[in-house]
Amino acid sequence: MTVLRAASDPASGRTLSGDQDIAGLSRVENYATVYLIGNEDDPEQIVLPIRGQGLWGLMRGFLAVEGDGNTIVSITYYEHSETPGLGAEVNNPRWQAQWEGKKIYDEEGDLSPEIHLTKGGASDEYEVDALSGATLTSNGVTNMLQFWLSEEAFGPYLARFRSGTEPEDAEETDTNFEDVEGGLIMADVNAKAF
Ligand SMILES: Cc1cc2nc3c(=O)[nH]c(=O)nc-3n(C[C@H](O)[C@H](O)[C@H](O)COP(=O)(O)O)c2cc1C
Repeated sequence: MTVLRAASDPASGRTLSGDQDIAGLSRVENYATVYLIGNEDDPEQIVLPIRGQGLWGLMRGFLAVEGDGNTIVSITYYEHSETPGLGAEVNNPRWQAQWEGKKIYDEEGDLSPEIHLTKGGASDEYEVDALSGATLTSNGVTNMLQFWLSEEAFGPYLARFRSGTEPEDAEETDTNFEDVEGGLIMADVNAKAF
């Protein structure tokens, strides 16, 4: 089953409330395929599928995170409808290069992502330059990262890898995941509601 079908099926997805739906998804699947590179128990990289609305339509891609569950390796989009030279600059290697080493969460140890795009020059490890002339696409990128890295999605899963970090309510937000063939992990992206 495709991810979008899983999200739309009542048995395998759920509706997001207006407050939750900052990425413009309407519905989200309960399980996602996460790719672990290296040792499964102590991976070098955790590759997460992400998606959200850009200016012209749904953007789909991957975010690669180091095994610490907090340091970004790279971001890439394999599907989008943004304009060449504007929003489509998400796949410009010079813009993508900024992401390496950026941090998702601060030292507080909670599940609220700090990473975001900013106009006028990134000034710390939680900031990446917005795409010039493409504020609306940039807002879409920020919003989808804020959603997928939050408590509503991969936040509890990534917390497992972050040393000294426990989800606020470990029992409620504990993430179920299981091995499937080929070293893929099916991570529960909706640990809270079930
Ligand atoms: C034909 C056309 C295509 C556009 N494509 C995009 C786009 O892909 N992404 C985007 O954010 N803005 C796009 N814009 C510009 C937006 O309408 C808006 O002006 C822009 O996002 C503002 O960004 P800025 O504040 O960085 O100038 C496009 C505008 C036009 C006329």
